[in-house]
Formats: sequence, C-alpha cells, structure tokens
Amino acid sequence: MPTLPLQVDRDDPRPLPTQIAAQVRELALSGRVADGARLPSTRALAADLGVSRGVAEQAWDQLRAEGWLEGRRGSGTWLRVGGFAQRAVESPATRRGVDEELVMMDAGTPWRDPRQSALWRRAWREVSTADPPRAYEEPGGIEELRVALAERLRRTRGLAVEPDQVLVTSGTVGGLRQLFAALSPGEIAIEDPGFRAAVVTAELAGRVVRSLPVGEGAESDLAGCAGAYVTPSHQHPTGRVLPADERLALLRRAEGSGCVVIEDDYDSEFRYDVAPVPALASMAPGRVAYLGTASKTVLPSLRLGWMVLPESLHGAVLAHRAVTFDMPPWPVQKAFATLLRDGHVDAVIRSARKVYAARAEKVVAALSPHAELAGPVAGMYSTWLLEPDRALRAREAMAAAGFRINLLADYCRNADLSGLLVGFGGPTDAEFELALEVLVSALSRS
Ligand SMILES: Cc1ncc(COP(=O)(O)O)c(C=O)c1O
Repeated sequence: MPTLPLQVDRDDPRPLPTQIAAQVRELALSGRVADGARLPSTRALAADLGVSRGVAEQAWDQLRAEGWLEGRRGSGTWLRVGGFAQRAVESPATRRGVDEELVMMDAGTPWRDPRQSALWRRAWREVSTADPPRAYEEPGGIEELRVALAERLRRTRGLAVEPDQVLVTSGTVGGLRQLFAALSPGEIAIEDPGFRAAVVTAELAGRVVRSLPVGEGAESDLAGCAGAYVTPSHQHPTGRVLPADERLALLRRAEGSGCVVIEDDYDSEFRYDVAPVPALASMAPGRVAYLGTASKTVLPSLRLGWMVLPESLHGAVLAHRAVTFDMPPWPVQKAFATLLRDGHVDAVIRSARKVYAARAEKVVAALSPHAELAGPVAGMYSTWLLEPDRALRAREAMAAAGFRINLLADYCRNADLSGLLVGFGGPTDAEFELALEVLVSALSRS
C-alpha cells in the first residue's frame, strides 16, 4: 500500500483532517505526488499517522469534495490533479538559472532541524500570550535573554560574563555597525580573505579598511588601527584556527597600538575533530570585543546576535543605544530567550552537529583526491584550494545542476587565493549526495 510523507502536529491549532488535506494539496501541486498516483486507504492512512479512521476519512472526503481525489470509499483512491496546474517537480536541476533558487551550498545556510517548526510555533505562542512592554525595552536587550546568554557564554565559551555585560544585537553585522561607530578614530584591519559583510559595514561607517593577511597575524602592523577584526576559532573563509603563538602576538600588537581586537565567534559550536576552540576573549577580555550570532545555530533570518565588549566601549555603545534602542524587536528577543530557557538551542545544535559531522566526512573523502583542503573543516562549510579556472568550471557545473557554491577569490581583497567554498548545511540529504557527484565529476574532468 502506498504511503505518503505526511505528518500531524498535535500542537497545531488546526483540526487533524485540515492538516492532512493541506499537506496532500501541497504534495499534488508541487508534483511530488504524480497525477493519477494511488493513495493509501483511510485505514492505512490512519495507521500510518496514528490517527483515528474517522480523521482519515474526513480528510479524504474533504479532498474528494474539492476534486483532488478520484474513487469511492472502499474501492481505492487516486490523486486527480487534472485542471490544477502542477508545478514542476522541485529538483535542483529544474530550478537552475534563477540564482536565488539554486540550492545554497554556501558558508552560511544552516541545516534545518525538522523539529524546529514545532519548537518555533511553541515559542511564538508563548510570546503571543505575553504583554509587550509599553515603553522601549532596556537598551542592552531584554533581561531574560541577557541572563540566558551570559550563562551560555560562561558554560560554552569560557567567558566570565555577567548579564549586564551582554548586549543583544541585530546579528553580528548589527553589532559590528554599533562597534565601528563607537571605536576611537582610526582604520579597521580586517582579515584578507575575510567576511565581506564586515568590510562593507566598516566602509559604511566611514572607516578605512586595512588588509590583515591571513596567516601573517604575528607580523601584522596595527599602528593607526582602532579595531582588528578576526575569526580566530574558524577563519572565514579559509577555515584556519589561529594558533596560540599568533593569538598572543595579535593581542600584544593590539595592546601596543591601542587597538581593539574584534572577535567574530560565528560558528564555534560546530567542530568535529576537537572540542570547540576557546574564545580569544577569554584570554584578554579587556582588549577583545566578542561577537556571537544565532545565524548559524538557529536561523540567519532571526537577525539576532550578542556582544560582550571591553568596559569603556560597552559604556559608549550602551549610551548610543539608550538613545536609539537599536536592537532586535522585543518578540524576537523573547522567542529566542524561550528557546534557550527550554534547552532547545542546545538540542538543535546537538542534532545539527551530527548531520554536519557526517557530511563533513563525506565532503573530505569525495574532494580530497581532487583539491587541497585550505584548513580544518568546521561549521557548515569546507574550503578548497584550486587553480582559478578549475574553480570557475566547477562552480559553473554546479550551477548548471542547480547548486550554488562560492569562489574563494570573491573573499579576497589583496590576497591571492583561488578555490571553492563548499557548504553542507543548505541541501537535503539527497541534494547533498547529488551535489558531491556533480562536483567530483566536474573536478575529475578538469
Ligand atoms: C564570518 C561570519 N560572521 C558572522 C556571520 C553571521 O552574521 P549575522 O549574525 O549578521 O547574520 C556570518 C554569516 O555568514 C559569517 O560568515
């Protein structure tokens, strides 16, 4: 008997037959179940979903009334798409050509835990029953969230942080924007290759951006710099971990030039070979501005992050915020606090880590014969060194098959590196396997 990829959610306020009918319509319209396909009997459907026979019958009756099903009770049921336009089956290849619709295999699209939908609904429901504050909230962010974040930073990143030291931000980029506005006059040194949004944000803040060549941290000249932006736990995008001697040298040089080290700790939750690398801020809290984000662990669309700053900078940023109240909206902060309180963020990280670890291993096994790994694989991407034309051809082959991967050269300003970033958070399992085949085949041809 055919089965269908349906599920019921008992926390969903809609009646069960409505939920089932909505999912069948979507399966039909998306083409994932073909016109004329035989559907399970109501008895089988009820058994599959763990619902009563009556629920299954109501769902089928509704769909039959709407013209989606053919056949009578007791004599078999078929899907009838008929006059309804079926969208093309959503395989990556049929979506090619429209850049936004390529399956993202970049450094920043996280895997989505299927349990997240139900968790989110629960969090939003709790938020919807709470009374929003009448006035602007506290300028640092809502207290409940700062308490939870301080606890998390102490436990997972070894930072001795009190809730009053945490500033909730609109993602890393929102934090950088406020930081660049508050730092003393001077240039901002940013890793090269490096995080493009940090460069743009510094330039928008009117700062001159200086290159901080990756791998030459110990030699870097920070004279005249107000800030030096680094990703020490997992250099973005090469993957390199900043070695202990370079950490110390960077801190010494920053101290000598009165420059603040800006630590972007964006995906340290995801390491597969060793335990998370300690935060640089734990070595010199008075010299390091620390930034974290929910974009990698939960979702980038939340626009939520946090920062912990050296005391005088904290005071300056807080003073600006006491006027602007520039931070994520109260419902987003409240919902994230709810997820943290209930342990859901930790649970989502644990399950994502398993998925990433398995995928990281497969990427390394598949691509190692064809390219050189630039640094350890962590987070949700791997970076490969390749000649420019091979990298370009591989990227084109991937785009033709419906996948978007990025060129390492696009992260370079003065640095002369070429290769590919291959992310593994965005695709489904099947898409991921296909993407690896396409990539290996493209690389073996060039
Ligand atoms: C190096 C780095 N830092 C931080 C972020 C996250 O930024 P935000 O928190 O603003 O979404 C990303 C996302 O791609 C990133 O690559």
